[in-house]
Amino acid sequence: MAGRAEGAGMADSIEVRSTGAALGAEVGGVDLRSLSPGAVAAIHQAWLDHQVLLFRDQQLSDADLIAFSRYFGELDEAPIQESGRRFVDGYPEIYVVSNVVVDGVPIGSLGAGEAVWHTDMSYLPQPPKASVLMAREVPPSGGDTSFCTMYGAWDALPHDLRAPALGLRVKHDGTYNSGGFVRAGVTASDDPRTAPGTMHPLVCVHPETGRRHLYLGRRRNAWLEGMSIEDSDALLDRLWAIATADALTWRHQWRVGDVVMWDNRCVMHRRDAFDASARRVMHRTQIKGG
Ligand code: SIN
Repeated sequence: MAGRAEGAGMADSIEVRSTGAALGAEVGGVDLRSLSPGAVAAIHQAWLDHQVLLFRDQQLSDADLIAFSRYFGELDEAPIQESGRRFVDGYPEIYVVSNVVVDGVPIGSLGAGEAVWHTDMSYLPQPPKASVLMAREVPPSGGDTSFCTMYGAWDALPHDLRAPALGLRVKHDGTYNSGGFVRAGVTASDDPRTAPGTMHPLVCVHPETGRRHLYLGRRRNAWLEGMSIEDSDALLDRLWAIATADALTWRHQWRVGDVVMWDNRCVMHRRDAFDASARRVMHRTQIKGG
């Protein structure tokens, strides 16, 4: 289904085409380097409506990626890479996701293995509201990124789970990243009750759409506050199976020049493994939440 986006001015010809899956839309007719206020408003509305937007064939420098992201809010600095490296020189906002190693040091995070389902930086009290990821180099196959809708997860929750879920908080682990690597400066731990991280409500209301959604963050070291580990794991197993069911997901196969912007509050994502001898280089910004 395609439509001209409301809010686009006469000079804009933005086209928003739903992926046909539970979430996601491709936005055509835009160069993200030069957007009118009407186009920005139309992109913002499409992002709220579809949760994940794909822009093909963009040619953005790091400065352009930052400038585009800033239309939607202030940016967070990039988290520390696994190597301890802080950010791309001159661009503290750019987080590099890559398996490429230069002079023995990885230029980015997450390697070439699977990155499991997660919400970016939800181990913080104020995680970013959005992430914008741009593909600079992609492998010939593998490395696809999937997204799942947490609105859909709430909607799919059986009624016997809804009332208990509303009163719960869940621990979002700050020990491991989605590639399974221990974060720089953190001691490895597998006890979710004492591991570093933040408690967030399990069910949240989206501040812009007013819709309810689950907020799971990541599974490793997750814990439902006040429960025994066994009871917490049993309930989390049920919730995760619902949230990541195929019917609630959309999978994206990357091309160089793709830019994908997701709502980090109501979407989780994961990445497939790929051949470690191929190069994959992605640059990401994080738009402040709160
Ligand atoms: C991420 O978790 O932000 C990276 C996803 C990807 O590498 O596709």
